[in-house]
Amino acid sequence: MRVNHSLSIRDGHLFMEDCDTVKIAREFGTPLFLVSENHLRHNLRSYTRAFENCWTEGPVRIMPSLKANPVIAIRKVLSDEGAGCDVFGSGELHAALHGGVAPDAISVNGSIKDREIITRAIEVGARIVLDSPRELDLCEEVAARLDQVARVIFRIKPCMEELDVMSDYTPEYEIRFMTQVIKYGIPTSELLPMGLKAKRSPHIEPAGIHAHMGRLSKKPEVWRSWVINCVNLTKELSDAMDGWVPGEMNLGGGFPSFPDKDTDVTIKGYPGPSLEELADVLTSSLREGMRNNNLETNGLLIEVEPGRGIHCDTGIHLTTVRNIKHETRNLEHRWAEVDTSQVFLGVSGANFNQAKFDFIVANKASDEANTTSDIVGLTCNLEVLFYQAEVPTLEPGDLVALLNTGSYIEPCTQNFNALPRPGMVLVNGSQVELIKRHETIEDVFSRDIVPARLADGENPQPIGKTARPAY
Ligand SMILES: Cc1ncc(COP(=O)(O)O)c(C=O)c1O
Repeated sequence: MRVNHSLSIRDGHLFMEDCDTVKIAREFGTPLFLVSENHLRHNLRSYTRAFENCWTEGPVRIMPSLKANPVIAIRKVLSDEGAGCDVFGSGELHAALHGGVAPDAISVNGSIKDREIITRAIEVGARIVLDSPRELDLCEEVAARLDQVARVIFRIKPCMEELDVMSDYTPEYEIRFMTQVIKYGIPTSELLPMGLKAKRSPHIEPAGIHAHMGRLSKKPEVWRSWVINCVNLTKELSDAMDGWVPGEMNLGGGFPSFPDKDTDVTIKGYPGPSLEELADVLTSSLREGMRNNNLETNGLLIEVEPGRGIHCDTGIHLTTVRNIKHETRNLEHRWAEVDTSQVFLGVSGANFNQAKFDFIVANKASDEANTTSDIVGLTCNLEVLFYQAEVPTLEPGDLVALLNTGSYIEPCTQNFNALPRPGMVLVNGSQVELIKRHETIEDVFSRDIVPARLADGENPQPIGKTARPAY
C-alpha cells in the first residue's frame, strides 16, 4: 500500500523506497532522520515542470531554500538536478558552495549582512539580495576594493493595501500588516533613492527584484495580490532608476508543503491550490502586472525559493518505544515513552489539541488501532508528542515513524538535557547511507571551556576555540 511518493507498507512494515525502515532503525539506531533521495528529486522536478509550463517568456530557476534542510549531501542531490539555492548567512553560503551549487545560481539573503559575507559573495560571484541601504554601501566599497562588480537584487516590501485577509501563520494579524512589520526587506521609503545610487555605481550591477511573502497564506488571491503589488513597486523603482528593468524576478518561497503538514502554520487543512495552480497564479499575475506597467518580460528569469514545498514530505523521523506505563487506578491512561523529543522535532511539548505530525507504527503498519495511548518524549519537559493517539497495542521495541519531517525539523534540533542530536540517512532505492552522524556526548560539550583556575587534574579541560565566527 502506497503512503506517498516514497513511502509504502509492505508485509506490515513501513518502507522508504525499497528499504524496510525497521531494518534501518536496527542498523543505524534511533532517533534517526531519513530522507528519500528519489522523492527529493521528484519534488524538484515537479516544481521545475510546473513553472516551466507556465512561464515561456524566459528561463525558470528553482532555488530550494537551504535553511529547510542544510545537510550537505541533501544539497548535493539538488545540485545534481541543477537547482539554484537561497542562503542566509556565511554558514549556509559555505554549505551551498560545498554542496556543489553553481555560485551564480546562489542568492545570498538575510538582514544585517556583514563585510565578510559580502566579500565572500562577490569573490565567488554569488548574487547579493540587498536588505538595506547600508548593504549597498558595503557592496560598493568591497567590490571597488576587489575591482569587481557586485550583482545585487533588491528585496522589496510591497504593501497589499486592498487585501484584508488574516494570516495563516499568525491568525490574529492581517497579512498586509505582517508584510510591513516584518524586519526583512528594504523599507520602501529607502528603496527608491537607493535604486538610482546602485544604477550609477560602476561596481554594482542591479540584476533584479526579490520579494518573499513567507508562509502567510496559501490562498491564490493572496498570492495574486502579492505579485501584482510587487510589480507595481518594481515599476516605481524602475522610474526612479531612469527606466531600469529587472532581468530577474525572485518571488521567494513560503508556498505550502503539498501534503499541507507544516508544523508551524496554525491555520491549515483548508483546500489550497495544487503546485500547478500555484505556478499558474504566480506567473499569470506577474505577466499581467508587467504588461499593465509596460515592463518588458521577454527573457525575464523567474526564480522561486521553496523550502517546505520541496523538502517537507521527503523525510521521516524514526523513534523507538522504550517503555510503556499504564495507570488503572485513578484515571485509566497509557503512555508509550519514545526515544525522541520535542527538542528534536522543533515543536512544543503540549500537543493536546492538535497532533503536529502524522505517524505510522513502522513494525505494525498493518495492525488495527485497538487502544489509545499518549506518545511521550525523552526530556524532562512536558513531552506530549501525541495525546491519546489511536494505536495498535504498543510494546517496548516498537518503532514509530513520524511523517513529513523533511523541512525545518533537523536544523532546529537542540541539546536540552545534554542530549546528543540524531543523525540522518539518505535512502536511494535499496541503498541506505549515513549523511549526518549522530552527535556524541563529547560533541555536546565540545564548545565548553573550563578556565585553568577551575580545572583540576581529574577533569581534563575540554578544548574549545575562543574566536567567534562572523555571521
Ligand atoms: C528569503 C526566503 N526565501 C525562502 C524561504 C523558504 O520558505 P518556505 O520554506 O516557507 O518555502 C524563506 C524561509 O523563511 C526565506 O526567508
